[in-house]
Amino acid sequence: MRVISQNIISSFTATLCLGLIGLLFAPLLPAQEYPADLARGKAVYQRNCQACHGVGGWGDGPDAQALKVAPANFHRFPSFLKSDEELLRTIEHGVVFSPMHAWRGQLTDGEMQDVVAYIRLLAQQGR
Ligand code: HEC
Repeated sequence: MRVISQNIISSFTATLCLGLIGLLFAPLLPAQEYPADLARGKAVYQRNCQACHGVGGWGDGPDAQALKVAPANFHRFPSFLKSDEELLRTIEHGVVFSPMHAWRGQLTDGEMQDVVAYIRLLAQQGR
């Protein structure tokens, strides 16, 4: 009986220690820049994405017609239903065999998160 309760106490102490160590190192984890900065997202979008995806995100930007693969229309269900992480992954790594190239290296993590937030905003707006 004694042994068991000692075990419980020591595992409790171990958990507590791990927790404290976690707290200690938390500031070193990569910063998530939340809440998203929509103004910056908009600026990033206008500079890099609008020519293909269009002002309203309907996939009808001036460069879209010349493309073999049409830019995504963010209002369509297949885009609308994707999670932020999925969209972020696409922006980060691009889409193979399409004009949508990877933006990693050209945009920072924060800029990519902000532009996803801006795309979400566009997708909620009508024409
Ligand atoms: C040269 C044109 C072009 C530019 C510039 C461009 N895209 Fe795209 N994008 C595409 C095309 C084409 C697709 C669709 C590929 C496909 O059909 O799978 C796409 C797909 C996407 C998707 C996936 C949507 C989905 O439903 O899976 C996201 C998100 C996206 N683009 C975001 C961006 C962002 C953010 C930028 C600017 C930083 C950007 N794109 C710039 C052409 C472009």
